Amino acid sequence: MSTYGSEYQLKSSELAITHWDKTPLNTPSDQRYVIYPWLKDAAEFRKHAGEQVLEIGCGAGADLEQFVLGGAIASAVDITPAHVQLARQRLDGRASIHLAEATALPFPDQSFDYVYSHGVLHHIERPRRVVEEIFRVLRPGGRFNVMVYAKWSFHRIHLMLRFGKRWNLYVENSRDPVHIDYYTKRSLRSLFAPASLKMEKFELAPAPFLQCWLGWFLVAKGQKPEAR
Ligand SMILES: C[S@@+](CC[C@H](N)C(=O)[O-])C[C@H]1O[C@@H](n2cnc3c(N)ncnc32)[C@H](O)[C@@H]1O
Repeated sequence: MSTYGSEYQLKSSELAITHWDKTPLNTPSDQRYVIYPWLKDAAEFRKHAGEQVLEIGCGAGADLEQFVLGGAIASAVDITPAHVQLARQRLDGRASIHLAEATALPFPDQSFDYVYSHGVLHHIERPRRVVEEIFRVLRPGGRFNVMVYAKWSFHRIHLMLRFGKRWNLYVENSRDPVHIDYYTKRSLRSLFAPASLKMEKFELAPAPFLQCWLGWFLVAKGQKPEAR
């Protein structure tokens, strides 16, 4: 088992640990993919058989298990002990799960074919450091897939109207504060430069045809840029 890594002192990490150790997220798989019907396709669970897949911020391990079921050789990190414990229980030895910082991944360079991270990057105050780690651990030509919260979304407007100035406290699953950034396609592109991204928004718009403009979940896929 690895340690937290050298940057454990990040304020955002401390907030994340306090938040999810107290109120872990553990939606059963049979509900998760009903609540988020687009997720299986967007994550590409079945497209990485035989590949080395890393999940950053695996939570209770629902998506990690899907990669394993799809035939991937899966590893994961998460900073929250309660989530690591739940993920280990769920995977029961079928994936290697580390208690570790996304900003200091405990893996050698170029050790993964695919890096996946769903709902994590926006909770980290130094996201560019995570992107550098993603590029470091991906093999040349390796691909990544991240989801962050979209700045322009129906859900955000709804929370603002409902909760006023304190709307930010209602984004996650408890009122304990946690670091959250909101991304536009432009800011996400600049975060991952020089990689080019394919982006799509999903979910929580008042009507399905609006989700590509007002969806809350911004999914970006790309490839490790070739060394210059
Ligand atoms: C909203 S949860 C998402 C969990 C999971 N990916 C899912 O979709 O259910 C955010 C996760 O990111 C993890 N996390 C936050 N900051 C982190 C960091 N600096 N390093 C590693 N994991 C982190 C939290 O512990 C938590 O499990």
